[in-house]
Amino acid sequence: MTAPNADSMPAFDDVATEAAFDALSPAEMQRRGSLKWTMYPGDVIGAWVAEMDLGTAPSVTAVLQRAVTDGSYGYLPPQIGQAVREETARFQHEAFGWSVRAQDVSLLPDVLSALGAVIAHHTRPNSAVIVPTPAYMPFLSFPGMYGRQCVQVPALPSRDAGGAVSWKLDLDRIEAAMADGAGLLVLCNPWNPVGRVLSAEELDAVAVLSGRYRVPVFADEIHSSLIVDPGATHLPYASRPTADPDLTFTATAASKGWNMPGLKCAQLIASAEARRAWDTNPLSHHLANEASLLGARATVAALREGREWNACVNRYVRANARLVAQALSAIDGVEMTVPSATYLAWLDCSALPLPQGVGPAEFFRREPGVAMNDGATFGIGYESFCRLNLATGRRITELIGQRLADAVAHLHA
Ligand SMILES: Cc1ncc(COP(=O)(O)O)c(C=O)c1O
Repeated sequence: MTAPNADSMPAFDDVATEAAFDALSPAEMQRRGSLKWTMYPGDVIGAWVAEMDLGTAPSVTAVLQRAVTDGSYGYLPPQIGQAVREETARFQHEAFGWSVRAQDVSLLPDVLSALGAVIAHHTRPNSAVIVPTPAYMPFLSFPGMYGRQCVQVPALPSRDAGGAVSWKLDLDRIEAAMADGAGLLVLCNPWNPVGRVLSAEELDAVAVLSGRYRVPVFADEIHSSLIVDPGATHLPYASRPTADPDLTFTATAASKGWNMPGLKCAQLIASAEARRAWDTNPLSHHLANEASLLGARATVAALREGREWNACVNRYVRANARLVAQALSAIDGVEMTVPSATYLAWLDCSALPLPQGVGPAEFFRREPGVAMNDGATFGIGYESFCRLNLATGRRITELIGQRLADAVAHLHA
């Protein structure tokens, strides 16, 4: 399949794209009516759920406009599903050096449906699910939805040479949970909400444990196209020679990097025994039928022709992160983990003199009007944290930095 409009797409203009991002205002975002901007009415900046304010790539817009013109809202033709598989394999190879065969890629409506299927059909009955925390909230609730226990393994915070905080996997506790009979490890790489890529050493150590205890790994790599620090490298877990393909399920999507989670098209990459098990289980296999035609077309357009837009977004988000970090460095009480990947910043507010019983997310939403995610929803022990979404325009980012800093100054006054 050739991409619609492949020949007619104008050259990508990053200056005009950034200017459009810069011009975004709260009033405009409220008018557009996203979940992020409408959940909390009034003068509240939406900076919580992981969607961007930055639209999507021109190539994606073009295929969607074409579909609207054609009234093309039907079921997914096999050749478009095949194009998704081929583009996914090509992208993994070109972006991360991981050789993936198109036949090892399956379509899905979304990443969480893959997690549900892996827990339900590809782990030992009744076995627990290991989730390193802080964790994307559904990782904590999904095991229970499938009648499984969730074993939370808190990250080990450490400091790098420059004094910045970094969050590492607690491999000893992961091993202990595996030795105790756990049936799955959920590995989020890049890691939402701490915004980092896992190192080769960590991935290899996980692979050794997975092999030793025969525990499958669900590698959620949905944020892998959001590497905002040019010095960071995303390493797909399954690309490590140490990772056993029989025990590895990778889920990914263009939905975060190109901002289209509502279009419902994600991908599962599995080979060897994991692939055979997935394909022969009718409930897993059936998920491919739930991916949407628009999402599949948009995925092909994103991966094939939308990479400059995605690179522009990554640079832009990095500058936003610097801006907020600078605003917060001027005040005491909030320590920000600046993301090297994802557009999410993890804020430690444990030194803030907050009123009794009020968490930081509630305080910042009520007082200055910045709606972030409550750290308590990311696992036990993160009640004094919150997660900030940086994927917005520069003016809005400035406003966020200013509102957070002013509110903290007020608290200290
Ligand atoms: C790590 C992670 N996995 C999965 C998802 C949800 O993906 P999907 O909508 O494809 O289920 C998100 C959304 O924010 C996420 O951050």
